[in-house]
Amino acid sequence: MAESGTGPRNTLSIRDNRTGRDYEVEVHEGNVIRAMDLRQIRVNEDDFGMMSYDPAFTNTASTRSSITEIDGARGILRYRGYPIEQLAEKSTFLEVAYLLLKGDLPTADELDTFIHDVTFHTYAHENVIKLLNGFRYDAHAMGIATSLVSALSTFYPDAKEVHDPEKRWIQIVRLVAKMPTLAAFAYRHHRGLPYVYPENELSYTANFLNMLFRIGVRDYAPSPVLERALDVLFILHADHEQNCSTTTMRVIGSAHADPFCALSGAMAALYGPLHGGANEAVLRMLTEIGSTDNIPAFMESVRKGERRLMGFGHRVYKAYDPRASIIKTTAHEVFEFTGRNPLLDIALELEKIALQEEYFVSRNLYPNVDFYSGLIYQALGFPVEMFPVLFAIPRTVGWLAQWEEMLEDSEQKIARPRQIYTGAGERNWVPIADRG
Ligand code: SDX
Repeated sequence: MAESGTGPRNTLSIRDNRTGRDYEVEVHEGNVIRAMDLRQIRVNEDDFGMMSYDPAFTNTASTRSSITEIDGARGILRYRGYPIEQLAEKSTFLEVAYLLLKGDLPTADELDTFIHDVTFHTYAHENVIKLLNGFRYDAHAMGIATSLVSALSTFYPDAKEVHDPEKRWIQIVRLVAKMPTLAAFAYRHHRGLPYVYPENELSYTANFLNMLFRIGVRDYAPSPVLERALDVLFILHADHEQNCSTTTMRVIGSAHADPFCALSGAMAALYGPLHGGANEAVLRMLTEIGSTDNIPAFMESVRKGERRLMGFGHRVYKAYDPRASIIKTTAHEVFEFTGRNPLLDIALELEKIALQEEYFVSRNLYPNVDFYSGLIYQALGFPVEMFPVLFAIPRTVGWLAQWEEMLEDSEQKIARPRQIYTGAGERNWVPIADRG
């Protein structure tokens, strides 16, 4: 509350010049006012009261959260307080998944139990495979995966019991475990290859690579370099506070829909080229540019506003996305093993120009998580249609952690924003003969 008589009051004083009335609105957390505190500002008793208008929520906090912290000005990203750089260097993806879901790094026993539980839930119901076989061979993998996840909800009716922590946890384990299987099956369907089923003795990422790429050999041994690179990429993509897809997960979850349906909605949002679909758009852009000779003409089209430099820019980061730095380093490690991706030269030249070009500097446009990730995925042998799916697998953990935090937050309820109505005033129905 405002301090009485000692130092500045922790409030905003608002004068409504329409009525001459003054209002005091409390400031929370140093820079936040509660939008509902504005409703007291009215011109008369019939007035609904003052609202805030914020299309795309560019300056609106929708929740309190203790999961991920981003400092966009300084390019800082922490999961539950741990810097992303340390987690990427020292942790495995499932260890980070436990951290995001449970709030702290697991003990050895906790991690062993979590790995065991995930390992023993990697299989999907065989009827899911019948669904998969209904898609065209060239169906986009993200469209397939999004459909299969919502279909999974029909196999687990107990997932609707969203207020039962134990029932929630088993759905969380199922989704974390099954996403790689669904993704790998979508890839194999796309390639016209038989499905490779999960192998329990492999790590999370080695099992995923095995389901994707094993052909005609009994024991597929993925390269430790590629296994680790994928683990790091999964860690970097695991959560990112209230981004578009996480907000979607929270909004759908606020209606108490089951987590499979909510997650399918989040995947649909991630699929967008302005969001998680950007890594696919980056590769298509680099392929279209084709040579560093063509960069000046492309950059001219960007400056004219005709194109966007995909993989650049961010709503929150106004400095280098810390994930992009780590991915860039990982890319060099992968290329030492797979051979250099020729598109890397174009990407590096684009970044060099953008980081010194007024158009980008003045708009704080830096490489984001999607700019280099696709180059690694391509070097690993993934078609571009798999790129958003590779984003969705690790982000499943963040979506679920945010979903559960929303359900346990007593301030939250079903999401239902207001609007400013700009349509026609009341008018009477007109017979069709009299229209036109
Ligand atoms: C992800 O929110 C998250 O955390 C997302 C994410 C996560 O982990 O969940 O980090 C993952 O989605 C990363 C972003 C991937 N998307 C792309 O790389 C697509 C290209 N980038 C953009 O379209 C854009 O930068 C956004 C969508 C990422 C951010 O858009 P904003 O914050 O709404 O900014 P804006 O569109 O209002 O742009 C501000 C200005 C505009 O110019 P002016 O109108 O002021 O003249 O910058 C320009 C834009 O035209 N601009 C770009 C640009 N991004 C913004 N111009 C050229 N190329 C770009 N990439």
